[in-house]
Amino acid sequence: MSAQGQVIVGLDIGTTKVCAVVGEVDADGITILGVGTVACKGLKRGIVSNIELTVRSIRDAVEAAQQMAGVKIDTVYAGIAGSHIRAHMSDGVAAVADREVTRADVERVLEGARAIPIDVDRQILHALPREFVVDSQDGILDPIGMSGVRLGVHVNLVTAATTCVQNVVRCAERAGLKVADVVLQPLASAHAVLSEDEKEIGAAVIDIGGGTTDVLLYANGGIAHTSSIPVGGNNVTSDIATGLHTPMGEADRIKRIYGCALGRLVEESEEIEVPGVGTHAPRRVARHVLTDIIEPRVEEIFAVVRRRIEETGLLEQLSSGAVLTGGSVVLEGMTEFAEEILGMPVRIGYPIGVRGMVALVNGPQYATAIGLVKYGAEQLSQARERTQVTSHPSSSRTRVEPEQPKAPSGLWNWFRQAW
Ligand SMILES: Nc1ncnc2c1ncn2[C@@H]1O[C@H](COP(=O)(O)OP(=O)(O)OP(=O)(O)O)[C@@H](O)[C@H]1O
Ligand SMILES: [Mg+2]
Repeated sequence: MSAQGQVIVGLDIGTTKVCAVVGEVDADGITILGVGTVACKGLKRGIVSNIELTVRSIRDAVEAAQQMAGVKIDTVYAGIAGSHIRAHMSDGVAAVADREVTRADVERVLEGARAIPIDVDRQILHALPREFVVDSQDGILDPIGMSGVRLGVHVNLVTAATTCVQNVVRCAERAGLKVADVVLQPLASAHAVLSEDEKEIGAAVIDIGGGTTDVLLYANGGIAHTSSIPVGGNNVTSDIATGLHTPMGEADRIKRIYGCALGRLVEESEEIEVPGVGTHAPRRVARHVLTDIIEPRVEEIFAVVRRRIEETGLLEQLSSGAVLTGGSVVLEGMTEFAEEILGMPVRIGYPIGVRGMVALVNGPQYATAIGLVKYGAEQLSQARERTQVTSHPSSSRTRVEPEQPKAPSGLWNWFRQAW
């Protein structure tokens, strides 16, 4: 680990937990220095609904990560999700300044694509290029250096409700943190678990958390779709609580220990012990009673995901299949069930491309937080190119000054990753 490394912190504010991951970026890549995960009750279906509870969980998670990493955390890359997220197509066109496309031309055309009317209560989170057009030649992934007089771009604009973005920023700030950028959670998750090859030939990332199921599709080399479904593992838990007449906490525990998404994977003879509510005594029930409760809910989640994908018309283009992230995908039988319903190869997404304390973050529930660190690292390399990096003499390691959220320069990184 280099003493010259830059510290980047990803802050995943989820419906069930807040997770802060501290990474150090140097020439060799990203080293995980510390992790803090704390239960959070301040969100509903991916959206902040109680500032106080959220701030408390952020403070605790950051404190734990800080202790482990031995560095002071002051700036974070924060994730955002929820049904308020929308994707819109937009086009931009610009004259090429010197008959050869430069980065400045690309940024100008992307700015143009962002300049579409959106509702006053919404803001653009990301502008993700799908393809460039130089003069009459389309399907270009990287136009820099090409000759031409006219540069066009087709962009996927991701927008969010401004109040939801502001609440994420407010929570982080009230926990004493600066927010370098607010990043779409499934975009971060995809970044953590997908290889460049998978992005290129097409893949779906499906993040099934506690409150939401987020879908992100890579097709034709770029990000083609994102959407959020307000159902997740918490619905499975409440189905179990109702079906087995047991408290939510117990239902979650039973789900984690004995749960299975596919009834046919469970032996008829298997039994589990269910604690009773209040004064009722614990009782033994067949394990397939539990899977009979879980299976229809998981089926519903994957069926909605399949419908969403079909509606985009991109199903055939997801050649490398689907990658599942989020805590709920740890449930036994999820991969098999997803393959059946989605009709494509499915794997669990473990974070890739990081070193250090990887054992602490080696699960699909950490994909978002790790992806936020990777996003921040890309921003850093971009900032380096633009010589916007400053060092903080007070800190034991060099830190990154937060960039203005949604600054055009930040787009370039996502553009490069997407292509
Ligand atoms: N071993 C397990 N088996 C089954 N489910 C699990 C397991 N571990 C965690 N879960 C479930 O995963 C869910 C939490 O996942 P995750 O941590 O990805 O959610 P989150 O990021 O807090 O929420 P969201 O992304 O929806 O806002 C909970 O419903 C929890 O019950
Ligand atoms: Mg999550």
